[in-house]
Amino acid sequence: MERIKQAIEKAKKNNASSLETFGEKKTNRNMGSTKLEDIAYVQTKTVDLNTKYLEDNRIVVFNQNDVKSTIFDILRTKILAKMKQNDWKTIAVTSPTQGCGKTVISVNLAISMARYDDVSVLLADFDLKKPEISKNLGLKVDYSIMDYFDEKVKLEDMLVNPGVPRLVVLPNNKAYGASSSLMSSNKMNAFVDEVKNRYASRIIIFDLPPILATDDALAFIPNVDCVLMVVGNGMCSKSEIEESMRLLDANKFLGTVLNKSDDEWKGYV
Ligand SMILES: Nc1ncnc2c1ncn2[C@@H]1O[C@H](COP(=O)(O)OP(=O)(O)OP(=O)(O)O)[C@@H](O)[C@H]1O
Ligand SMILES: [Mg+2]
Repeated sequence: MERIKQAIEKAKKNNASSLETFGEKKTNRNMGSTKLEDIAYVQTKTVDLNTKYLEDNRIVVFNQNDVKSTIFDILRTKILAKMKQNDWKTIAVTSPTQGCGKTVISVNLAISMARYDDVSVLLADFDLKKPEISKNLGLKVDYSIMDYFDEKVKLEDMLVNPGVPRLVVLPNNKAYGASSSLMSSNKMNAFVDEVKNRYASRIIIFDLPPILATDDALAFIPNVDCVLMVVGNGMCSKSEIEESMRLLDANKFLGTVLNKSDDEWKGYV
């Protein structure tokens, strides 16, 4: 634990700016006018989620009496302040290695942000190798991102509103093994532009694969304004953390979240 903190501190010093480390206990273009966006939102399919299923999958922010929900609200507020300061709209969530908690954090963060007045959020599953947002939310998803590229579905028909006002999810129901070259392709670039421009007033959170496990994240990051690094306690070595930070553009570094921390969070009691 101390080793990870030291690695993060060292990497933070080498970057232009960062959020404070965040811990969580183990238990736990302009087509995008407001008018067009409103129309698309009305058309978005709404689904009801199962609260018990969400809690079992560590989606804790629905229950505002749960102290873990407060942790995400603090993270959300820090992130929104920094994004506003830098005029950033799009965030990539990644980690050095796999299983650090990127998807759990992306989903909780997106819901917590959408709860904030005047903030609208699009949560996009761009981990094409292991898309898991729909699994975490318990969503039945009809389309994959490849269906969009194969022109079988339009963007607006892929979006789902998970019963949270001001939140839409772009899920993906199928892994795509050859994703690396797609991530840096012109057609991916055009797709991301379509998402960004159509929903220009929204914050967009892209859940990505780990930085060191594949080149997908590095290929995709040029498309976003900033990057949030999730470090799983005991899941990456000091050198893996340092190497991931080194690969990132320091000007895009939003901060680090230390997930699965042993430190106990008692909340405000
Ligand atoms: N704070 C936490 N405490 C305990 N377990 C957690 C925590 N956060 C996430 N997990 C669990 O760790 C596992 C991996 O989480 P998650 O799928 O969010 O990670 P990931 O970084 O997206 O993984 P991948 O690299 O495979 O996409 C899941 O079983 C999740 O429930
Ligand atoms: Mg994931």
